[in-house]
Amino acid sequence: MKKARIIGTGSYLPERVLTNLDIEKMVDTSNEWIKARTGIEERRIAAENETTSDLATKAAIAAMDMAGVKAEEIDFIVVGTITGDYPWPATACLVQQKLGASRAVAYDISAACSGFVFALDAAVKQIQTGAARKALVIGSEILSRIIDWTDRNTCVLFGDGAGAVVLEAAEGPNGILSTHLRSDGTYWELLYQAGFGARNPASVEGIEQHLPFLKMQGNEVFKVAVRMLSEVAQEALTANEIEIGDLDFFIPHQANRRILEAVAKRLKLRADQVYINVQSYGNTSGASIPIALDEANRAGRIEEGDLLMFDAFGGGFTWGAALVRW
Ligand code: COA
Repeated sequence: MKKARIIGTGSYLPERVLTNLDIEKMVDTSNEWIKARTGIEERRIAAENETTSDLATKAAIAAMDMAGVKAEEIDFIVVGTITGDYPWPATACLVQQKLGASRAVAYDISAACSGFVFALDAAVKQIQTGAARKALVIGSEILSRIIDWTDRNTCVLFGDGAGAVVLEAAEGPNGILSTHLRSDGTYWELLYQAGFGARNPASVEGIEQHLPFLKMQGNEVFKVAVRMLSEVAQEALTANEIEIGDLDFFIPHQANRRILEAVAKRLKLRADQVYINVQSYGNTSGASIPIALDEANRAGRIEEGDLLMFDAFGGGFTWGAALVRW
């Protein structure tokens, strides 16, 4: 079977920076509390006229430029997002239109913060089966639009952004070695958005009850996230007969520093293996892994032959890992 290889990365972060000091003026919190409990110092907030497909398109163009791939060569576009421009159509279709990628099949994946890893898995399978030769995998989110800015338990955690990769069918040993996905719907109520869908259709009362906003039981999510992120990472290593010490980069979903440190400790990762940028962007949900990957790649830190792992966890619950030979 052919391998899917990442031949370009891109990201886009909105210009506006919202610091912890700014949030201190909005809710009863402090810079010290946020830094100590989450590691987050600032996050980006999309401009009023920016949408999730705008962010996604900018990240995609950067990835395609790096790859030297034109829009009309793309066979498949998949966007991991829970904050699409509209409930439907898919944000991926809007990206397709903006890029002029007329040949592509385009759809979204709703796997919350695992969105990028789930989308990557879908694209890898398109390539492995021969259905696609070149694919665009995007994680793009404007979480700031579904955050309750009066809820200090959640509003300090999240930010906006997008990241993308271009995949190409390739011969040889380098590429995505394997993907490992998991879900457990029994946990759905620990992290979700109550309105407005078929369960709670749009209503004035719903707005008064803050239904359109993200709800989370943070400390419960924390415990499960640490366990699942560690387990699925181990599963990916075992499946490929790779030792944890062999990883050059562990690029996890940037949920918060304490989760990442707990996972690193469980897996016995060295600090230099773990890529963390949560301090700058907060939790950008499905966008966090491709943003971190692009940052490391553009800094020239990733070399051909390096071994990378992506590891994500999110609402659903969903979680998954991917192992990559660069
Ligand atoms: N500023 C100040 N105090 C805050 C606060 C804030 N922004 N948010 C919560 N608190 C308070 C709580 O009200 C609580 O006060 P109380 O003891 O008087 O009731 C206290 O801090 C402890 O709350 P708790 O929720 O137990 O804190 P925690 O150590 O679990 O940290 C999170 C809270 C949200 C940072 C942590 O649970 C977390 O990171 N969870 C995972 C969230 C996540 O990553 N979700 C996405 C997964 S993809």
